[in-house]
Amino acid sequence: MTKSRLFCLLVVLGSAFMVLFIIVYWDNVGTANFNLHTSFSKSYPTHESVESPSSDLSTENNGISDVDRFLDNFLNFATTKNEVPSTKGEKLVQRGGSNSFEENVRGYDWSSRTKLEEAILDQELIQEERKLNLRSYCANSSFNFPFKDRDFDEIPNKELDHLVVDDRHGIIYCYVPKVACTNWKRVMIVLSESLLDKKGAPYQDPLEIPREDVHNTSNHLTFNKFWRRYGKFSKHMMKIKLKKYTKFLFVRDPFVRLISAFRSKFELENEDFYKTFAIPILTRYSNWTNVPTSAGEAFSSGAKPSFSQFIQYLLDARTEEQRPFNEHWRQVYRLCHPCQIEYDFVGKLETLDEDAALLLRQLNLDSLFQFPPSYRNRTASSWEEDWFSKIPLEWRQKLYKLYEPDFVLFGYPKPENILKV
Ligand SMILES: *[C@@H]1O[C@H](CO)[C@@H](O)[C@H](O)[C@H]1NC(C)=O
Ligand SMILES: *[C@@H]1O[C@H](CO)[C@@H](O)[C@H](O)[C@H]1NC(C)=O
Ligand SMILES: *[C@@H]1O[C@H](CO)[C@@H](O)[C@H](O)[C@H]1NC(C)=O
Ligand SMILES: *[C@@H]1O[C@H](CO)[C@@H](O)[C@H](O)[C@H]1NC(C)=O
Repeated sequence: MTKSRLFCLLVVLGSAFMVLFIIVYWDNVGTANFNLHTSFSKSYPTHESVESPSSDLSTENNGISDVDRFLDNFLNFATTKNEVPSTKGEKLVQRGGSNSFEENVRGYDWSSRTKLEEAILDQELIQEERKLNLRSYCANSSFNFPFKDRDFDEIPNKELDHLVVDDRHGIIYCYVPKVACTNWKRVMIVLSESLLDKKGAPYQDPLEIPREDVHNTSNHLTFNKFWRRYGKFSKHMMKIKLKKYTKFLFVRDPFVRLISAFRSKFELENEDFYKTFAIPILTRYSNWTNVPTSAGEAFSSGAKPSFSQFIQYLLDARTEEQRPFNEHWRQVYRLCHPCQIEYDFVGKLETLDEDAALLLRQLNLDSLFQFPPSYRNRTASSWEEDWFSKIPLEWRQKLYKLYEPDFVLFGYPKPENILKV
């Protein structure tokens, strides 16, 4: 009896030790391993696109696996992190005059440079500018917004539900609703092979995935689900993945995003949004005495919230006392924590096609598929003035304050035309 108990105890202790050992090993030695790995593959160019775009462009399609490419991206990112401001600064200067830029990159055969390569080079510079802007405002102590200075560890689990992880390729995508998120979620499903089609094989074509499956959260591994897999080590695992994986997000002009959210959730008949949001809005801010109880009824009787009432709802302090903003109008800084997570790629809807092409290329996935084209009637920035023309100036200014962190962090200019009389 005692012998078998002792044996059990030893087994338990042994397994506990193994688990601890694996965690510590992964955390501390993982990076060193990757370093070792790249230093062996000599023929593989170190990713020095910053200093010499030539090496980056001339080595495409030479059969490097996704994983190597990604690891290298990661390593480059990790090792250049500290010098970001200086190197990027140089690059930005170079961007001003193409001549000085070319002189700086000797030994590169400029005549063979194609239009596409040129465009991609340009996009890479824009990328660095965006990341530099983001990091400088995160570090700027005179620029503040709620929870700006909290640590990643202090972010509640439920606020990490927009970070989608693909462990197969080492990619983390923070999805922002109304910013091409359906298509990027499709891409993430294909990459992570997390969903099977009718024949039982993982989907290969992003566009074949039914829309309802794309938005079903069971089909995505998000950070907030980590506790189920890793228990109390979940934050630890998140941090390891954040350190090693390529992280990206797509953003959009905050006011245009609001218009887009309003159009899709209140101008189209949507039972869920009607019940949860339109009824309180109409009850509080309209003169309807008996607010219809269903979207169908409301749409036939014309009981729809106006854009102005929607803005009133956003500005009303009572709104967030009841529940946090819905993800369609919650600020990006609250969905994606851009000062806690150092994103490797900041895409914009305004330049979706170029950004998607560059991102897929950087992830070495461009040979696998193209980003699905957007076919829907996208809300245009030029409509902004029209939409805001009936909103009182004071509200517009308050609304700007509410979304200012998104404007500033992601480099959208303050919309002066809307904020002045
Ligand atoms: C820091 O933020 C403040 C307030 O937004 C701004 O006026 C200032 O220019 C910023 N400083 C730097 C170095 O970006
Ligand atoms: C989401 O997917 C899960 C598992 O595939 C399924 O059980 C569930 O019914 C789906 N939910 C919706 C709303 O479709
Ligand atoms: C509600 O009625 C009041 C008084 O008749 C009017 O001043 C106000 O503009 C109305 N509000 C809306 C949203 O129709
Ligand atoms: C797009 O939407 C706007 C406003 O909702 C409408 O005026 C325009 O005709 C639409 N365009 C297309 C091509 O559907």
